[in-house]
Amino acid sequence: MTDVIAMQDICKDYTLGSGVTTPVLKSINLIVEPGEFVAIMGSSGSGKSTLMNLLGTLDRPTSGLYLLDGEDINEYDDAALAHLRNQTIGFVFQGFNLLPRRSIVDNIALPLFYGGEERKERVRRAEHYLNQVGLSSHRNYLPGQLSGGQQQRIAIARALAGEPTLILADEPTGNLDSHTSKEIMEIFSALNKEGITIVLVTHEMDIACCAKRLVQLKDGKIVYDGPMY
Ligand SMILES: Nc1ncnc2c1ncn2[C@@H]1O[C@H](COP(=O)(O)OP(=O)(O)O)[C@@H](O)[C@H]1O
Ligand SMILES: [Mg+2]
Repeated sequence: MTDVIAMQDICKDYTLGSGVTTPVLKSINLIVEPGEFVAIMGSSGSGKSTLMNLLGTLDRPTSGLYLLDGEDINEYDDAALAHLRNQTIGFVFQGFNLLPRRSIVDNIALPLFYGGEERKERVRRAEHYLNQVGLSSHRNYLPGQLSGGQQQRIAIARALAGEPTLILADEPTGNLDSHTSKEIMEIFSALNKEGITIVLVTHEMDIACCAKRLVQLKDGKIVYDGPMY
């Protein structure tokens, strides 16, 4: 089976306006196979979000090889990469990133419109994934009428509706209380049991422990990669 993620010797530098170049990721090697559930941990500034942006192809590495679902992203221009990303990845963010003036069902269906799905299929998937996160009865609400935990469930449904190979979640419980965080993690665990590959960033151990594998970053390097302990 093709690795979902294969990073080889990935480096990322940022050059500031002053012309000073800072290495943020240093020789990252990371393989993620289909069906894995990986938690990325590390202190603030260790490079977790930078790594997630690279994994999500929202940014390109300074050097190194990245195969996403077997595809070398270096061979893709920005438009083709956006297409590959839409086909492959579902994103869940700390801040939910829902459209405030659109109904819940529209929030889930709209990305499918941009992905070129037919209307009937958009509606079918929106209803299906809304049901999967247990919020069918809220289909016509606006995001602001839901709690933080409910909004994050909508964001998860939106990510699922693209039927991705991989879910990337950067601190998805960062804005939620501990009880709600547990509920969100139960959803991720259930999805992983169904076979969806998940890579999740968190700085809370009781969140991370839902994952089966732990990757720890320190100063832009992987210092641990192994079973969750
Ligand atoms: N766009 C950027 N330009 C310059 N420096 C950045 C940029 N994004 C992140 N950094 C720097 O890279 C380091 C890692 O940041 P980040 O990946 O956000 O860490 P984490 O998510 O682990 O807190 C930090 O020192 C941060 O200041
Ligand atoms: Mg971060």
